[in-house]
Amino acid sequence: MDRIRIVGGNPLNGVIPISGAKNAALPLMIASLLTDRTVTLENLPRLADVSLLVRILSNHGVDYSIDGRRQGEEQDAGQTVHMTAREIVDTVAPYELVSRMRASFWVVAPLLARCGEARVSLPGGCAIGTRPVDLLLMALERLGASIEIDAGYVVAKAHKGLRGAEVTFPKVTVGGTHVALMAAALAQGTTVLHNAAREPEVLDLADLLVKMGARIRGAGQSVIEIDGVARLNGAKHRVLPDRIEAGTYAMAAAMTGGDVMLQGAKAEHLKAALDALEQSGATVDASEEGLRIRRNGSPIRPVDISTAPFPGFPTDLQAQFMALMTRAKGVSRITETIFENRFMHVQELARFGAQIRLEGDSAIVEGRPVLKGAPVMATDLRASVSLVIAALAAEGESMVQRVYHLDRGFEALERKLSRCGADVTRISSGD
Ligand code: UD1
Repeated sequence: MDRIRIVGGNPLNGVIPISGAKNAALPLMIASLLTDRTVTLENLPRLADVSLLVRILSNHGVDYSIDGRRQGEEQDAGQTVHMTAREIVDTVAPYELVSRMRASFWVVAPLLARCGEARVSLPGGCAIGTRPVDLLLMALERLGASIEIDAGYVVAKAHKGLRGAEVTFPKVTVGGTHVALMAAALAQGTTVLHNAAREPEVLDLADLLVKMGARIRGAGQSVIEIDGVARLNGAKHRVLPDRIEAGTYAMAAAMTGGDVMLQGAKAEHLKAALDALEQSGATVDASEEGLRIRRNGSPIRPVDISTAPFPGFPTDLQAQFMALMTRAKGVSRITETIFENRFMHVQELARFGAQIRLEGDSAIVEGRPVLKGAPVMATDLRASVSLVIAALAAEGESMVQRVYHLDRGFEALERKLSRCGADVTRISSGD
């Protein structure tokens, strides 16, 4: 298994190109199942989760081709993938694949909408608390599907087609909103989603669906209306920039006291996180090119945050912000309201000398002037990158184990950081 060795202490200075968003890429790719025409996605990140989803979708009958890299092209420029599901050859998504990536469960919606049935394994994915799918299934049931659980599989049927309905989510769910959008796009009649997720990735999926011929109003707001259509067409779409990747490097720059340009990042996707960064003493400048983040010499100030659905502070940046707060001059409180048990990074951050105490759904972080390099273990995707951030600022050498978690969500992490002056090396299992 690969490891990453980091010698801390260097400030980050330079330009970091932000990749296409993983959390947008996955639902966009899944939407290709809704049509027999070609969906072309540009700016797809080169990530393990994207490659795995390509395999999963090809099992269902998606033919794909990936444009080769042109000579002289940046190695980490996004890729273009053409996906065509001329015929759905299999409506079963097996445990072996779905258990490796939770989002692949979402195939249930297009399979059901297009073929009238789907048999999809209950998901796995990051080990961050229990992550049920009850609200996704509730939405499909409201649209007229019958749902049964059989031997660890969800069996969904709607042989007469789905029908538009009112769907009210008792809790904001990104996956639930994606699933409901895809299913409702091909349902008969009008669907109204109440308390829908407002994340930029939801808007990106709705944008693609509209290009494919779907009739959607209100995406990006809490109430979304969808008039179902009989069939959808192909379309071409560019994946939006990854706000979580951008936020992560923003925190790394603030942590090391550097000056980076996050090329392509959009301030409107990151407002809550940028506000917190500014309060902590970093300077944020938004421009056409992207976001410039600086912290030159000033101490890191403690800031309390609480995660919330968009536009609140994203749970996917909670661990990274906690890493930053471990070096703040004072005490901060970090509250996690989206996922229970999303504090697995706390014990690993403690290996660097961080002082963190858990109180229910909050972590109380007592900042320290100095962190010391240590061997640490990545546990989930976002937690693991918080260890990288801490290691970049810690004195001496750190070794991050189990970096396959990072490879699921961060494209060319060590290259992007090294170019900005960090001392980061990947040690392959063969070395
Ligand atoms: C997506 C993101 C993930 C992010 C999360 C919250 C992708 C691939 N993943 O995950 O990175 O951390 O949004 O922003 O886009 N819930 C239920 N029942 C359900 C579904 C969800 O109770 O049927 C709960 C969850 O346990 C959680 C909350 O709703 O407490 C939000 O989860 P949700 O927004 O659905 O997360 P995902 O879509 O899985």
